Parts: sequence; structure tokens; C-alpha cells
Amino acid sequence: MRFGVKLRQSLPVLFTWPSVAQSLGLGGAGFARVSDTPLGVKVTLHLRPPASVSAIAAAHERIAAAYGAARVRVQTDPLASDVVWLFFDYALALGSVRYPWDDAPTHPPLDPLRPLPLGIDDSGDVLFIEPLGQGVLLGGIPGSGKSNAIRVLLAGLSQSRDVALWGIDPKQAELVLWRTRFSRLILGHDEVQTISLLEDLLAIIHRRALFLATTGGARLLPSARHPAIVLVVDEWAEVGATGSTKDRQRIEGLLRRVVSLGRACAVTTFIATQRPTSDTIDVTTRSLLAHRFALRVGDRHQADATLGVGSYDPSQLIGASPGRALWSDGGPARAVQVYRVPDEMVPSIVASSWTPGSQE
Ligand SMILES: Nc1ncnc2c1ncn2[C@@H]1O[C@H](COP(=O)(O)OP(=O)(O)OP(=O)(O)O)[C@@H](O)[C@H]1O
Ligand SMILES: [Mg+2]
Repeated sequence: MRFGVKLRQSLPVLFTWPSVAQSLGLGGAGFARVSDTPLGVKVTLHLRPPASVSAIAAAHERIAAAYGAARVRVQTDPLASDVVWLFFDYALALGSVRYPWDDAPTHPPLDPLRPLPLGIDDSGDVLFIEPLGQGVLLGGIPGSGKSNAIRVLLAGLSQSRDVALWGIDPKQAELVLWRTRFSRLILGHDEVQTISLLEDLLAIIHRRALFLATTGGARLLPSARHPAIVLVVDEWAEVGATGSTKDRQRIEGLLRRVVSLGRACAVTTFIATQRPTSDTIDVTTRSLLAHRFALRVGDRHQADATLGVGSYDPSQLIGASPGRALWSDGGPARAVQVYRVPDEMVPSIVASSWTPGSQE
């Protein structure tokens, strides 16, 4: 945002906060600092009794109205109980942000367990996640940006050493671009191939579990002998619609076991789905995927099904443009604009990626 615009947004707060706070019954909330954010300005307040965080949170809509902001978010400083931050957002989302990739990348192979950058949150900070061993679930309506978010994860993982990628892409739309980086890839609907891939993965998990039991380890770290295996399913609603009822039950059962047993054995699953509700994705499978992203969703139930009930503010997804998501790993949800990886960026990422050797 331009400097002049920022000034127009911060000056009124700077000069009128004491009187506005007084009129809203928040007299004890003294103004301490104002700084820029990507969506507007951040105001730091010091609280003196009787002002309280709950009183300010209850007044957030009235504060937004007083300053003509699209939204006011209230957050507490985890290190100081008398400090509260007000984020005056003059826009609801950041808009497209390109994945920070240049054609002369930082020399792969990189550490597979390093945090991967996913996008920018509403405070302008980069969101990093460590998906290996944790699992990822992405829920959102068609066009909300699930496949692109998978690209961002693949961009990070493909540069990592000791990471093998396995994929199921029933729509033959997305993973095909990464074909040469995948060790195994099913393109299109084929329940026989899907079952066979999941059985092979489960067999590897069993062998690794035996190895762990004999060596006395609790958890397998990625290595040349036992690379991390990441199973990417883009799009689960399509896989779940494949074959007979018996095939579907078999696929669901296998996936559930891969997700639940894989964790200790360096096998991780990423699932994107247009329909995250319990009729399409098994509740146990869903609950075992630690990183959840709700992109634009059809209704509140789908956001609940992705993130877990009540851990988010639904207003943050209103009018969401592609790539805007709420992310949670079990704690409070954080709004993020996922980086965009355009089609033309993928070949250069794939070309510079680490190549797995032969696997067990
Ligand atoms: N993070 C993003 N930033 C900007 N634009 C995005 C982002 N993610 C997706 N888009 C835009 O939205 C379009 C659809 O995205 P994508 O294919 O990832 O959606 P999807 O949720 O996988 O849809 P479907 O359910 O149909 O597979 C992209 O082609 C791109 O133009
Ligand atoms: Mg998609």
C-alpha cells in the first residue's frame, strides 16, 4: 500500500482514539503505537482497569464502523496480558502473492524437516509449516486454490533430500506437471491401481515398523535408506467416487491405515478435497491430518469439517479470493494468503529438484 494511503488510515486513529475509546466505554485502553500491516494498520493498546480484552473484542464492530475499516481484528500479546493489538483492515484479503522462487534456487537438496513457507498472513508474516510426519488436509470449493496450495508444498518438498513423492490425481489435472519428480503416480480413475498403490505403501509401513521395533527407535527420520514418503491425493472426492462400494470401502480403509500407521514411519499424507464433510472423508483419517486449511467453502459445516468446530471466525473467509485460507494445526486458526505458483514456474522447480534413488 502507498505511503499516503497508510497515512490517511493511521492518522485518524492516532488523533481521535482517546475520544472514540471514551465514547465506546473503553476509556482505560490507552494508545501506545501504530504500525503498518499489509491490510491496513496495527494499533497497540495498553489496558488499564476497567478496560479489558473482552470489552474491546465485544466492541470490534463498532470500532470498525467508527473508522470506516472493513474489519477490526483483536489479538492479545501472548507476552503481556495488559497489551492488546487492534488490526484495522481496510481490505479483506491480500490478493495474489507469488511464490518466492527464482531460477537460481538455493542449492537443493535441502533439509527435509525444515519449515516450508506457505504464504503470508494478515499481519504480513510468512506462515511456515512442517508437514512431514503431520499430514495436511485442504478443503474448499472448486477453484478455491487447493491444487495451488499443494503446488506450494511440492515446491518445498521437491527441493528436499530423502523425500519420495507418491501421487493420486484422478482428474489428471495437477500432479501431471510434476510427473518426473514423482516416484509413483496414478493419473485418472483406476480403483485397481489405487488399491495396489495403497497396499504397497502399507507394506512399506509394516516393514518400517518392524525395523523400528528391532532397532528400538520410536520414530523413523528421513534418510537415504528410508526416505520420507509423501502421498498426495488431489482430489479425494473423485477417488472416493471410484469403483464399486466394496472398492471404495477398501480404499477408505487402506487410506485410514496409511494415515494412522504412517506417521511414525516417515509416511505422510496430503489430501485435497472439494467436500471435506464426513460423508466423503472418513472422520478418523481427517482427525489424524494435523495441518488443516479451509479455503473458500460452501458453508460453515465444510469449514467446521476441515478445521474442527469453533476454532475460527467464519467472517475471515467471506468473499475469499483464490488462495485465501484459514490454517490451523489444532490451535486458533490463522488467516493466510497462500503463495501462488503459476504453471510456468513448475518446470523450473521440477528441473532443479532432488531425485530419489531406488527405494525399499
Ligand atoms: N494462492 C493463490 N493466489 C492467487 N490465485 C490463485 C491461488 N490459488 C489459486 N488461484 C487461482 O485460482 C485458480 C484455481 O485454483 P486451483 O486449481 O488451485 O483450485 P482448486 O481448489 O484445486 O479447484 P478444483 O477443486 O476445481 O480442483 C488457479 O488457476 C489460479 O488462477
Ligand atoms: Mg484442484
